[in-house]
Amino acid sequence: MMTTMYYFSGTGNSLAVAKGISRDIGECELVPLGSAAAAPGVIVPAADRVGIVSPVYFAGLPSIVADFSGRLDLSGVRYAFGVMTMGGSGGSSALRQLDAILKGGPGTRGLDSGFSVRMPGNYLLLYNSPGGKKCEAMLLDADRSMHEIAGAVRKEAKMTIPWSPLQSIIHRMMYPRFVAGVHEADRSFSVDDRCTSCGTCAEVCPVGNIRMEGGHPTWLHHCEQCLACIHLCPTEAIQAGKKTEGRTRYHHPGIGIEDLKGQSGKPPSK
Ligand SMILES: Cc1cc2nc3c(=O)[nH]c(=O)nc-3n(C[C@H](O)[C@H](O)[C@H](O)COP(=O)(O)O)c2cc1C
Repeated sequence: MMTTMYYFSGTGNSLAVAKGISRDIGECELVPLGSAAAAPGVIVPAADRVGIVSPVYFAGLPSIVADFSGRLDLSGVRYAFGVMTMGGSGGSSALRQLDAILKGGPGTRGLDSGFSVRMPGNYLLLYNSPGGKKCEAMLLDADRSMHEIAGAVRKEAKMTIPWSPLQSIIHRMMYPRFVAGVHEADRSFSVDDRCTSCGTCAEVCPVGNIRMEGGHPTWLHHCEQCLACIHLCPTEAIQAGKKTEGRTRYHHPGIGIEDLKGQSGKPPSK
């Protein structure tokens, strides 16, 4: 029973969840969505089960996940599931968006089940990511959720994705504006003299949106706003406007730079 899980991850939460589920369900390949999305046209996975693991952005899907899902034909798949990681809420509306996109896509086949996992929030423009005991407790809960999700996937459990009126209002009010500006959001990013030219930002960008020029990152305006470059910079030299200076950087403690590298499938441009 072969499972393919497509994942998109900025700071490692979604990758940690994809890995956790895959450990429990046996034969499974993890495919970075950033590189899978480079294939043109309709994507037909050769697997019995397909999962999509993604963070929630403004109670919806990252733009690249939405676009990719719209080209995914799951009509030949036995079991399809979605897993959303999020700092607080919005998982249900993101899963409903995913389900609707898949149903409207080439396979006209939606999800059999959908799961949300609360993890430390990484939206540094708005808040400090939790640290210390709070972070540890959240990650412990997330580990338990992964086992439960893996159990449901093994059983190919079917479930209706819940509808939350509040999430749906947030999605309708905030998501369209977010998506409209997301690729250009990197225009507010800057790098200061703490930059050591290590190139980590370019390596961890899941969509290959950073080129090192003269030893410093240049953003190429096809940003997904995952904030990996800001969170993973070893010297905290990257900021988004004035809001991120001094805020706690975060990445999942079980996922390092090596794990996050290469999601785009492109070597970092020099
Ligand atoms: C642009 C952006 C928007 C976000 N919007 C939400 C949201 O609407 N609801 C929420 O609970 N978390 C939100 N988050 C937090 C992430 O969904 C959460 O931290 C996720 O686990 C990050 O996954 P990753 O480490 O795989 O990138 C947002 C994060 C970013 C960067």
